[in-house]
Amino acid sequence: MPDPIVIATWPFGKVAAEAALKSLANGDPALDAAIAGAQAVEDDYSCRTSVGFGSLPDRLGRLTLDACVMDGKTLACGAVAGVEHIKHPVALARRVMDRTTHVLLVGEAAKWFALQQGFPLEVPYTSDAIKEWLEKHPDLKQRPGANPPAPCDGASEINIDADHHDTVTVLTRDAKGSLGGACTTSGLAYKLPGRVGDSPIIGAGLYADDLAGAAGGTGVGEEIIRIAGSSYVVELMRGGRSPQEACVRACERVNASAGRRGVHPARVAFLALDPKGNVGAACTAKTNFQYAVGRGGKVELVQAKEIAAGM
Ligand code: GLY
Repeated sequence: MPDPIVIATWPFGKVAAEAALKSLANGDPALDAAIAGAQAVEDDYSCRTSVGFGSLPDRLGRLTLDACVMDGKTLACGAVAGVEHIKHPVALARRVMDRTTHVLLVGEAAKWFALQQGFPLEVPYTSDAIKEWLEKHPDLKQRPGANPPAPCDGASEINIDADHHDTVTVLTRDAKGSLGGACTTSGLAYKLPGRVGDSPIIGAGLYADDLAGAAGGTGVGEEIIRIAGSSYVVELMRGGRSPQEACVRACERVNASAGRRGVHPARVAFLALDPKGNVGAACTAKTNFQYAVGRGGKVELVQAKEIAAGM
């Protein structure tokens, strides 16, 4: 019988891996375990500022959340983007998968769907997140009613590394050998209102197929979308590459895409799990990406290989 395995992004992925391993040990399917892991991070305010309530908001101070889920056995998937006041967007993504014929619901309409499904509306802000937002926007603090800050100029000002974490992406293999994945995030801190990154985009932030493998991304979502990152990693595994080789290739592709536009590669990372239980991860330069690996009842943090531009 295959060993249950979980991998999850960033040091806070330990929280996810522990919850997912417990779920797998109870005999839950891979997707349920991945969602349990992602939801554990949404619930843990102490360990992150970029997943769930209490995270850093957009440029106007509004917190909007993105999430998606995918079942490697059936390719069923669901996602929500730009959703406010819902504490567990990953559970809502699952509901989109289970209760609709669609894959992705966004914004106000996703919130209305949540209400119809019995999700409560809750207040997503913590005093720490509000304080940090005000500190980053002294104009607004000193002059109530002042114009909002200038629009974000893109990835150049974005700092993502082991100290400034991003999406939690959780990939699991259950005791039957099936794969599942879930990811959840508040997106980039101080993003333009309406901006959506890779996390709720199936094939960009997440992909899972029992016949090839599961992969997820984290970091500057625009760069992951540009190369259809997770789908690319899974297709490389389908073609015989190991999870490690596939993640390295995806980082090389991010570097090459930046080169074609004459900009520095953004900080991104990929992680992957194949149907045999092999795992791998890689990141672009200066990302300092660590991920949690849980198996045999234990969870450890592993440092991913950095792929510098031009390699
Ligand atoms: N990787 C999360 C985002 O870019 O929104």
